[in-house]
Amino acid sequence: MTDLKAELLDVALEAAARAGVFLRDGRPADLGVAATKTSAVDVVTEMDIASEKLITDYLAERRPDDGVLGEEGASAQGTSGVEWVIDPIDGTVNYLYGRPDWSVSIAARKDGETLVGVVAAPMRGETYRAVLGGGAHVNDRPARVRVAPPFEQALVGTGFGYLESRRVHQADVVRQLVPRVRDIRRGGSAAIDLCDVALGRMDAYYERGLNPWDFAAGDLIAREAGALTGGRPGEPVSPELTIAAPPGLFQPLQNWLEELGAWHD
Ligand code: IPD
Repeated sequence: MTDLKAELLDVALEAAARAGVFLRDGRPADLGVAATKTSAVDVVTEMDIASEKLITDYLAERRPDDGVLGEEGASAQGTSGVEWVIDPIDGTVNYLYGRPDWSVSIAARKDGETLVGVVAAPMRGETYRAVLGGGAHVNDRPARVRVAPPFEQALVGTGFGYLESRRVHQADVVRQLVPRVRDIRRGGSAAIDLCDVALGRMDAYYERGLNPWDFAAGDLIAREAGALTGGRPGEPVSPELTIAAPPGLFQPLQNWLEELGAWHD
C-alpha cells in the first residue's frame, strides 16, 4: 500500500470511529427532526449536523489541505488533490427511529478515483473498509461477495428516494422485479447495502438517485470484495443509477433494470 493510501485509511478509520461512538452513545432519547431537505420526509437531525462537524474538524486537523464534500453542506476545494466525501449518518431515518442499520460513510478520492472507503456501522459492531487494489475487510476479516446465484434466486436490495414522483416509478420497478427474484430488501442505508453485497449478506443491490456521499465508500468496498458496480450499460455508478452484484448476476440485473427504466423517474 502506498504511504498516501495508508495515511488516508488511517484518517478515515479514526474519523468514522469517533463519529460512530458519538452517534451511538450520544443519541438523545427525544431526538427530533431539525430540518427537512428535498421533501417533508427527507430529514436532518441535530446529530447529522454535529457528526459532520466532528468529522470535518478532525480531517482539518489531520489533512488541512484536502477538499471536503459532505451531505449536510460541508464543502471546501482544498489544494492537495485529495477530496473527502462524507455521509455523517447514512440511514438518518433508521437513526431517528432507533433502528440499528445506520452508518458513517467516509471516502477519499483523488483524480476522480476513490482510493479509500470506510463505512462504520456501530450498532452492528462492524466497520467495513477498502483500499483501491488492496481488498475489502470487515473489521479485520477479508470481505468477499457471495457466488452469483441464478437470477431467480437472487436476494436483491434497493432503496427509495424522498420525492413522491420518483417513488411512484421506483415502486413500479420493484413491482415488476419482485416476482422474478428470491426477494427484495429495503435496509435504509445505501452504504450498508453496498457493504452487505460485499459481505455476501445480499446478492445484489440497486438504487436510483443516490448522492456521492451515499455510494462513494460502499462502491469501493463492494468492488474490492469482488462485485461489479456500475450504472446504465457502459456507465459507472452515478446518481442516475447504482448497481452492485457479483459477476454472473450483474449483467442480467443491469439488463432488467435497463428494460424496466430503473434509471429514470
Ligand atoms: C439515504 C439512505 C437510503 C437511500 C436514500 C438515501 P440518508 O441516505 O442511504 O437507504 O434509500 O436514497 O438518501 O438520507 O439517510 O443519508
